[in-house]
Amino acid sequence: MQINFKALSKKYQTPYYIYDFDEITKNYKELKEAFKARKSLIAYAVKANSNLSVLKHLKNQGAGADCVSIGELKRALKVGIEPYKIIFSGVGKSDKELELALSFNILMINVESEAELKRLEILSKRQGKIARISIRVNPNIDAKTHPYISTGLNENKFGVDVDLAKRMYIYAKNSPFLEAIGIHCHIGSQLTELSPIIEAVQIVASLVKSLKSLKIDISFFDVGGGLGVRYKDEVLIKIYDYAQAILKSLYALDLTLICEPGRFLVANCGYFVTSVLYEKQNSNKRFVIVDGAMNDLIRPSLYNAYHKIQVLDKTKDISKCNVVGPICESGDFFAKDIELAQTKPQDLLIIHSAGAYGFSMSSNYNTRTRVAELAFFRGEARLIRRRESFEDLISHEEEFL
Ligand code: LLP
Repeated sequence: MQINFKALSKKYQTPYYIYDFDEITKNYKELKEAFKARKSLIAYAVKANSNLSVLKHLKNQGAGADCVSIGELKRALKVGIEPYKIIFSGVGKSDKELELALSFNILMINVESEAELKRLEILSKRQGKIARISIRVNPNIDAKTHPYISTGLNENKFGVDVDLAKRMYIYAKNSPFLEAIGIHCHIGSQLTELSPIIEAVQIVASLVKSLKSLKIDISFFDVGGGLGVRYKDEVLIKIYDYAQAILKSLYALDLTLICEPGRFLVANCGYFVTSVLYEKQNSNKRFVIVDGAMNDLIRPSLYNAYHKIQVLDKTKDISKCNVVGPICESGDFFAKDIELAQTKPQDLLIIHSAGAYGFSMSSNYNTRTRVAELAFFRGEARLIRRRESFEDLISHEEEFL
């Protein structure tokens, strides 16, 4: 069954996001199946798309959650994701966040610095608890992706190097308030090369082995997220190869495997739908001006990311243009110099691969209300987030004078 963009745009107005939930299921199953030789947990990276219905849908498939703020953690709990399937990561967690995470009894807190480890020890002592932790190891590997989404080099702020990680595990072993149950690495996002992932996994696996000889037994090996998807013509890592290579690197280690995909599960299931307002020509340059903008989908502006754009039901009179939004910034574009059919006001533009880091990175810049989100599930579309109103947008503000 096809999504009827025309009817939906009439009913819900533009711009909006729509996510194909059956596609999400397919991606989830493919990944889970690839790891079937071992106990595994797919902890969805909530940041990619944190709509409650998306989370609930993934929970229903059996997914856990990888959260990077207490807000994300509360979302995961709200849709019923079992606490023992939840991981809390992030370089800068506040006391309040750590205390709440402890009280929620989640699977583990992923510690990213020595200072955090010591802080967590104090907080768990205060609560009379033992904090289950993993340590994020930064394996100093070049993930060969966009610098803004590369995380596995020593120059990045994430995790700790192998030697420090080892010392932290020894520290945790000697603390009555810490229990190290996991190990973690994540070298970056939109990865299209397998070798850096495998290199990282091997470095971390050898750390697991050396910890074993110190009688520190890790039960969970978290390989992070990062699997790339096809936005344009990327040659992707085959899921089977990815899983096999990881399983091979962990051979003879009795571990539950965790992975934290975000983009892989949702990116290509989502579309951002926007209407043409006008076309204009500035010194021979053609601009297609639409009602969506960088505040709704910031990836092109922020990373120069490519998203395929299609004019619904039109394929004639194709010429080069920039697709731009109404925001007062030259960086407000969805595409530059792409070939697009001639449009008229109200024509629909479908922006593809917008299910990950689309709505979740949106803002109210220019006092633009956040758009609606829809789910397409078993042939039917449903509203899963109503469009924000102006009143919603100003509801936390005071007129001071
Ligand atoms: N685990 C950790 C620790 C992460 O930092 C991330 C993403 C993931 C998992 C999920 O990565 P994924 O499977 O989605 O690649 N806004 C950027 C992406 C930022 C990724 C941040 N961390 C974008 O739009 O491309």
